[in-house]
Amino acid sequence: MDRIRIRGGNKLNGVIDISGAKNAALPLMIIPLLTPETVTLHNVPRLVDAQRLQRILQNHGVDITTAGKKSGQAGAAGETLKISAKTIVDTVAPYELVSKMRASFWVLGPLIARMGEAKVSLPGGCAIGTRPVDMHIMAMEKLGATVEIDQGYVIAKAKNGLKGGHISFSKVTVGATHAALMAAVLAKGDTTIENAAMEPEITDVAECLVKMGAKIEGIGTRNLNITGVTSLHGAEHTVVADRIETGTYAMVVGMTGGDVLLRGARADTIENVILTMQRAGLTVDTTNEGLRIRRNGSGILPVDVTTDPYPGFPTDMQAQFMGLMTMAKGKSHIRETIFENRFMHVQELARLGADIHLHGDMAEVRGVTKLTGADVMATDLRASVSLVIAGLAAQGETNIHRVYHLDRGFEALEEKLQGVGADVTRIAGA
Ligand code: EPZ
Repeated sequence: MDRIRIRGGNKLNGVIDISGAKNAALPLMIIPLLTPETVTLHNVPRLVDAQRLQRILQNHGVDITTAGKKSGQAGAAGETLKISAKTIVDTVAPYELVSKMRASFWVLGPLIARMGEAKVSLPGGCAIGTRPVDMHIMAMEKLGATVEIDQGYVIAKAKNGLKGGHISFSKVTVGATHAALMAAVLAKGDTTIENAAMEPEITDVAECLVKMGAKIEGIGTRNLNITGVTSLHGAEHTVVADRIETGTYAMVVGMTGGDVLLRGARADTIENVILTMQRAGLTVDTTNEGLRIRRNGSGILPVDVTTDPYPGFPTDMQAQFMGLMTMAKGKSHIRETIFENRFMHVQELARLGADIHLHGDMAEVRGVTKLTGADVMATDLRASVSLVIAGLAAQGETNIHRVYHLDRGFEALEEKLQGVGADVTRIAGA
């Protein structure tokens, strides 16, 4: 299996191009299931998860053609996918496919909405927590579907189509908000979604649905009002810049020092992260090309954070921020409120010399003056990249194993880091 070798210590300078957001691209690839016409998506990141989802959609009969420059080519701006669900040949999403990627469970909503039935394997737990789907099921029921769970499958039916309803989430959930929105756009009548997630990825999907003919009000707020339409049509859409990738490279620069422009970054989608970075002593400037991140000379200051749904500090940035705090000048507290088991990076950061103590959902990080390279691995995407951040500041050589986690969510990670002067190499099969 591949590993990534990092020789830490280089300051980083130059430009990193920000890719399209993984967590917007995946649902955007699913919504063409709602129409027999073609949806064209630009700026789709070249990620293992996106390739995997293509195979899952093809299993339902979806036709996908690819265009766009290859990774590493000058000006490469993601792939263009033309997705056409003219005929849906299968409404079953089997265990073998859904178990590999949780977001594929989200086909449930569009399949019921368009076909009146769907049988989708339960996604199961994963490394960051139990991650139930009760609120997805509740949303489908509120829209008039009958739902039963049999032998690990969610079987949902709405033979006469879905009907508008009132959906109120007891907790903010990105996935179930996507599901409710994707189903309600084709339901008969009006739907209200109360306590909806307002992550920028939801907004991006809602905006694409509107281009397809959906009627949605309240986009970007906690309350969505949808008036169902009888059919949707094709559209063309560009995936929003990845705010988590943006924040990750900002933490990288915070850790190593230097001056890097994150080209294409959208400051308006990471305001909370920008504020946190500024409090940690980084200089962050919004330019018309993106975000410029600098840390020259000054040390990293300790900052306490608590993860929260958007617009709060994102859980998907928690591990990276902890990486940064390992070398802060003092003690910081990082509280994780979204997932119950999202601290797997703690013991791996400790291998590099970090001083972190866990107290329930709170990590106490005592900044150290020096990290030292080691062999490390992590069991999820964001945890893995926190090790990259720490490795870039560690003395000596760090080898990150289980690289496939990084390939799921960071497009051209090594190339982007090499481009700003980091000593990062992928070593095949070692
Ligand atoms: C999405 O996961 C993201 N995944 C996650 O990113 C992200 O961490 C998460 O939202 C929170 O922002 C994608 O977009 C593909 P949730 P999702 O439903 O939708 C509980 C990454 O690294 N819950 O918002 O699965 C749940 O257990 C990934 O890119 C229920 O209880 O997350 C959690 O505690 C990892 N019942 C909370 O809600 C439900 O039916 C929020 O989860 C659904 C969720």
